[in-house]
Parts: sequence; C-alpha cells; structure tokens
Amino acid sequence: MSLLETKSLSKNFGSLNAVRDVSLQIQPGEIHAVIGPNGAGKTTFLNLLSGELPVSAGCLQFEGHDITRWSPDRRANAGIGRSFQHSAVFEDLTVHENLRLAAQTQYPKSFGMLWPAEGYTDVAARVTDVIAQLSLNAAESTRAGELSHGEQRQLEIGMLMAISPKLMMLDEPTSGMSRNETLELIGILRRLSERHTLMLVEHDMDVVFQLAHRITVLVNGSVLASGTPEAIRADASVRIAYLGQED
Ligand SMILES: Nc1ncnc2c1ncn2[C@@H]1O[C@H](COP(=O)(O)OP(=O)(O)OP(=O)(O)O)[C@@H](O)[C@H]1O
Ligand SMILES: [Mg+2]
Repeated sequence: MSLLETKSLSKNFGSLNAVRDVSLQIQPGEIHAVIGPNGAGKTTFLNLLSGELPVSAGCLQFEGHDITRWSPDRRANAGIGRSFQHSAVFEDLTVHENLRLAAQTQYPKSFGMLWPAEGYTDVAARVTDVIAQLSLNAAESTRAGELSHGEQRQLEIGMLMAISPKLMMLDEPTSGMSRNETLELIGILRRLSERHTLMLVEHDMDVVFQLAHRITVLVNGSVLASGTPEAIRADASVRIAYLGQED
C-alpha cells in the first residue's frame, strides 16, 4: 500500500489552475522529489497534502484513509510533517529550545507544571539524538536568529526530525545554502531516509539526482512525467520543457 496517494488532485486560484489533476503515489521508504519551473505548483501541491489549502477537486489518502477533509493538525498528528519554503524557526529561542519545542509536540500532555519524568527524558533524549544527527557548528545555546541562513534551514529540518513524522515533506531545503551546507544536507537527508519517507521539492538538480528514488515533474500544475531518475533524465519532454536541453 502507498503511504500517500493523490487522485486527480486540483487547486484553482480563481481562473488559475495551480495544480491540475495530479495523481501520484508515495511509497513507504522512498525519497520522492517534485521538480518543476518556478510557479509550476510545487508548493501549492505540498499545501494540499499538508492541508494548508483546501483542494478544489480530487482526493488524497494517507495509509489508506481518505484525509481530503482533514485539518492540518489532524494530518500532522497522523504523521504528515512539512517544512516551509522560507525558514520558520523561532529566532529568539536557542537551538536547543527550538528542538525541545518541536519534540514536545509529540508529548502534548507533558506541557505545563506537572512534567512526568518519563516524558521529560523522552523529549531530552530526542533533542540530543537530533542534535547528533545535524551538523551545526553553532552551540545548542545559540539563539536561532544568530545562526547562518543554512544552519537555520538545517535547524528547521531538525525540528521536523524531533517530531519524527512518517512522511516528511521539505520545500526547497537547500535554498540559500552554500555548496558545503548543501553537501552536508544531502548526507543528513540520506540518513533520514533510512527511517522516514521523504517528499522533496527541490530546484538543485544535483541534490535531486543524488537523492531521489522517484521524481515527478510538474509543469503548469500538471504532471509532465513521473518515474526513476534514469527515466526522467532520458525523457525528451522533460529535457525540452524543464531541463532546457534537447541533446
Ligand atoms: N494563495 C495563492 N493565491 C493565488 N495564487 C497563488 C497562491 N499561491 C500560489 N499561487 C499561484 O499558483 C501558481 C503556483 O505557485 P506555487 O507557489 O505553487 O509554485 P512553485 O512551483 O512552488 O514555485 P517556486 O518554484 O517559485 O516556489 C503560481 O502562479 C502562483 O502565483
Ligand atoms: Mg514553491
């Protein structure tokens, strides 16, 4: 069974068909990259999956359940997690506090004065585990607002790791990163994929072709092609419409 399946999913903004009739399946354990030119509908598609936007038509299933009408919170609780195209860390909090806050959302009852000791240990262990998996140069006690842009993006992914969703959706995680930061992130995502299913919206083709098991190409809201990296690389329509090469 697919982890997530969309059936003829569409989103219109007035007369603009931002997402048209998109049917695709995300298999458990895979890294599925969604690529396409600016304005192709990639972020909109992700917003339909996370529930940030209501669909105009079509439906989607997560682990076999129809979640089309579920709220973003309900989807998040079911195991759909996402990052945003623009960094969304709490700048006034430290690295550690940002991660702890994310980890705590997994233990909602442990908020407040009466912290069950067990829940606290779990949260602390989770934060330690995430920090070990990241490659931040900054100390845990550094305010997030003082991190470099690349490290803020990494922290954002760390916050998602602390929540540990079944499906992790990342919107352009490498945007604004230096080459080195991007290479580090590729390593982090590869290790993450051992435990999570990833959906990656990404412009950097090196990242896409190094990581993805399957690639879906969106153009003008529609699926132009979907398949293995080899199949996408060899697809003439993709080369002409998107990769910009006819050779
Ligand atoms: N809330 C909105 N209201 C109206 N139009 C929107 C809205 N969100 C997106 N659009 C439009 O829908 C189209 C798809 O936008 P979207 O942000 O999904 O593209 P994208 O593939 O993520 O692009 P990019 O690579 O630049 O991030 C664009 O034409 C955009 O202007
Ligand atoms: Mg986008």
